[in-house]
Amino acid sequence: MYLGLDLGTSGLKAILVDETQRVVATAEQGYPNPHPHTGWSEQDPDDWIRACEAVLDSIAAEAPQDLADLRGIGLSGHMHGATLIGADDTVLRPCMLWNDTRAAQEAAWMDAQPGVRAATGNIVFPGFTAPKLLWLENHEPEVFEKVAKVLLPKDYLRLWLTGGHMGDMSDSAGTAWLDVGARDWSDGVLATGHMRRDQMPDLCEGAEASGDLRDSLRQRWGIRAPVVVAGGAGDNAAAACGAGCFAEGQGFVSLGTSGVLLSAKDSFAPDPATAVHTFCHAVPGRWYQMGVILAATDCLNWLSRITGQGAADLAATLPDRAEGPGSLLFLPYLSGERTPHNDAGVRGAFLGLDVAHGPAEMTQAVVEGVGFALRDCLEALRGTGTELTSILATGGGARSRHWLEVLATLLGQPLALPAGGEFGAALGAARLGMTAAGAATSEVMTPPVIAETVDPRADLAEAYDRAWRRYRTAYPAVRAATTP
Ligand code: XUL
Repeated sequence: MYLGLDLGTSGLKAILVDETQRVVATAEQGYPNPHPHTGWSEQDPDDWIRACEAVLDSIAAEAPQDLADLRGIGLSGHMHGATLIGADDTVLRPCMLWNDTRAAQEAAWMDAQPGVRAATGNIVFPGFTAPKLLWLENHEPEVFEKVAKVLLPKDYLRLWLTGGHMGDMSDSAGTAWLDVGARDWSDGVLATGHMRRDQMPDLCEGAEASGDLRDSLRQRWGIRAPVVVAGGAGDNAAAACGAGCFAEGQGFVSLGTSGVLLSAKDSFAPDPATAVHTFCHAVPGRWYQMGVILAATDCLNWLSRITGQGAADLAATLPDRAEGPGSLLFLPYLSGERTPHNDAGVRGAFLGLDVAHGPAEMTQAVVEGVGFALRDCLEALRGTGTELTSILATGGGARSRHWLEVLATLLGQPLALPAGGEFGAALGAARLGMTAAGAATSEVMTPPVIAETVDPRADLAEAYDRAWRRYRTAYPAVRAATTP
């Protein structure tokens, strides 16, 4: 048996699979994500531990005999978070998450320092880990003084599971301290960010062993033999493992809290002049590129909160078959934007509001706005020479047929929908647990069975294309109109 643990932004998901990858048990536990100030996004790392205890207690109650046979655990987690721990491994302050943009000034400063982009292969985005530590030095120096280690969120969970300070290449690539081509910490960039190598965890590949589950935890859940914990991966690399995306051009679009358009890469070919991310994959010798938008389903959830209607109810107001873009335009920059603008300061907008517009028109605009932003990601990827040859659709938003049709039309490519069952980051994590326990990557990381394909709507392609071009003119105008 193998366990995949996916530490998501809204909760922790666990799946237990057997050696044929049949899902034996699943469990989920949510936790809060406070935004105490504009641009801040935090979590209490101890909530992750409590969630991990809860999901494992639940699986132990549901499938005790299966859990007793556990051999490997894989971890996936939301990327870029700064989990700061002191010399005694205690957490020093709430974790600053991937969509926390308070360190925008520090990020711009670090991004401009010689050698940083060349070593990391990426822009230093405000949500990345390194600028958060510079912010800490400026704003909470007494905490900065005490930082003995900086761990990514899933690596803090690992510390609790194994007792070891370890990180994997794919997640560490998002810190802005890693030499992403060499797959090692960059001493030069660490020094630029006022950090040291001894404050970093040791590194391993995602598919390799990082340690063993502590005996006390094995006993607590009645597990018979030693359990290896894999290096694991950042959630997007883990999702690529779950979806079998490894060859050049194989990719997925994810409509989760954030939106991602990802393509696997055979080689390290960064283009840090663009806002495309180039990170290590979870297996040795491979990389991937992606465009990231900070709010995808997050926009629908926001609309749901302010209208008092459930997000699924709002989505249900849209017909399955798209009917062409509406007149209302939505800019999904509720938390600022990464690809293509690298702009932590911009905020979202509705343009063209009419007295007759209500929640249904606003929902359509939100869905289209996220689609336009992902089209921007496609253009950014193309700008670096990356062409997607196949695209799987994943994430909660992929449950909306309308959204998928709009997206397929805007991307000009069919979207493949995996047959029911698991194929996301939690499965990717379980697969990494299998490889760390000795299975071959090529045998384990296969693409899912495709249930159906959503084709672009040829009859509406021109109309959506025109609407996307209108959308592109709105960013500089909104930026200018809202900058003090
Ligand atoms: C990727 C990113 C998000 C998070 C949260 O760069 O910031 O996709 O990993 O899922």
